[in-house]
Amino acid sequence: MWVRTLIAGTVAAVGAFGALTAMPDANAAAATLGSAAQQSGRYFGTAIAAGRLSNSTYTTIAAREFDMVTAENEMKPDATQPNRGQFNFSSGDQIYNWATQRGMKVRGHTLAWHAQQPGWMQSLSGSTLRQAMIDHINGVMAHYKGKLAAWDVVNEAFNEDGSRRSSNLQGTGNDWIEVAFRTARNADPSVKLCYNDYNIENWSYGKTQGVYNMIRDFKSRGVPIDCVGLQTHFTGGSSLPGNFQTTLSSFAALGVDVALTEVDVTNASTSQYAGLTQACLNVPRCIGITVWGVRDSDSWRSSESPLLFDGNGNKKSAYTSVLNALNGASPNPSSPAPSSPTPSSSATPGTGNRILGAQSGRCIDVPSASQTNGTRVQLYDCNGQANQTWTLTSSRQLTVYGTRCLDAAGSGNGSAVQIYACNGQANQQWNVNSNGTISGVQSGRCLDVWGTGNGQQVQIYDCNGQANQRFSLS
Ligand code: G3I
Repeated sequence: MWVRTLIAGTVAAVGAFGALTAMPDANAAAATLGSAAQQSGRYFGTAIAAGRLSNSTYTTIAAREFDMVTAENEMKPDATQPNRGQFNFSSGDQIYNWATQRGMKVRGHTLAWHAQQPGWMQSLSGSTLRQAMIDHINGVMAHYKGKLAAWDVVNEAFNEDGSRRSSNLQGTGNDWIEVAFRTARNADPSVKLCYNDYNIENWSYGKTQGVYNMIRDFKSRGVPIDCVGLQTHFTGGSSLPGNFQTTLSSFAALGVDVALTEVDVTNASTSQYAGLTQACLNVPRCIGITVWGVRDSDSWRSSESPLLFDGNGNKKSAYTSVLNALNGASPNPSSPAPSSPTPSSSATPGTGNRILGAQSGRCIDVPSASQTNGTRVQLYDCNGQANQTWTLTSSRQLTVYGTRCLDAAGSGNGSAVQIYACNGQANQQWNVNSNGTISGVQSGRCLDVWGTGNGQQVQIYDCNGQANQRFSLS
């Protein structure tokens, strides 16, 4: 199971960003951030400023340590279209060429944003601005077509309370974000399309939920989106939340990749750097980490010394904490066991079972024997067929058809229970408890149904031990 999970995670990450170089022996400690991240199929990147590429201390560290680059300012709208209809890619290309000549990949940042718009765009509104946004996306993406690993299509569109940020773009209509993504997919079908924001690391924060709901909505309606970038600027009142991994796995469970895209931490706290790295490593669809600059002196908030190298280019203790975490990467997510109810020792892993509802006498069933990710499970008359046959594995997954896992689409009350390609995450791990309930490792909540009839959908809910939450593997 461990080996299979490692391969699955690696394939997913490689598949997302194309072929990687040969993977080093996972048992040998790698000496740089990029090579250490590659051991688990991930990347480790940095923001690069074109104006610093003449500094040899800067370029030596950047070329040695990183395998992904984001242009810090040079691919933003004010840089790429300073006058309407006149595109300028000189600084962006300088970074692109520097990176790719050294075998590094490049993330594009960013196409539609309320900030760093050229003056002419700032003064537009309504349908004129909407068209200007579409033209800008088409113009920039045409230039970089087929060249980039990902684009931050839309940046920072939400308020802290989870509502939409008011901006000239928002003023063109609430659908501006999906229009941006649809335009981007048509402009370059080969590049991954990301939504990128800050302060969406804490799962219980309003902004996180606002973005999550938008991504869920986009996935349900087929709006093209491939990834969510969590900027991970830990500064001032914001620091590494204990539920960061839950946030990453919850976004991932919607069917998108996640990445930490602009990491910096006040005074480069070693525990926060190690913790954010580990959270990413624990989530198979967390495909990489990018720090927002090389040395402290390169940072947009240099007075807080938030990066991995000091102003002289020396490795800081935070660097070591990140490298050690990357080198210790385990393919298996660590996940806290719920305190109650008590997992049963009698559940036997490895045999095919039906999951029989005590109240209904009906079985947990995948509708129409679907194998499609995201198909929600239901109660149905037990029939012993493959779409009702579940295997409890030693890593607490409940598999069906051998390749799909029982999967919680979120961790809150009422979250859907569905099937999804097995990925080793905690939202696909289940405890079979001695009181007859089955609870999710990530949420601590129990499988639950509101009724007893055929077609009743299964959800997770606070465990109460009542008959509608009791299921037996039999
Ligand atoms: O290049 C000019 C220089 O000629 C001029 O003399 C000077 C005077 O202020 O300004 C220089 O430009 C500055 C530019 O950085 C390059 O250093 C801009 O004023 C300054 O506003 C700009 O700041 C950038 C900021 O985005 C703008 O929003 C930071 O470098 C950049 O790190 C920061 O990055 C953002 C991400 O894109 C999105 N997420 C947050 C992150 C941090 O704010």
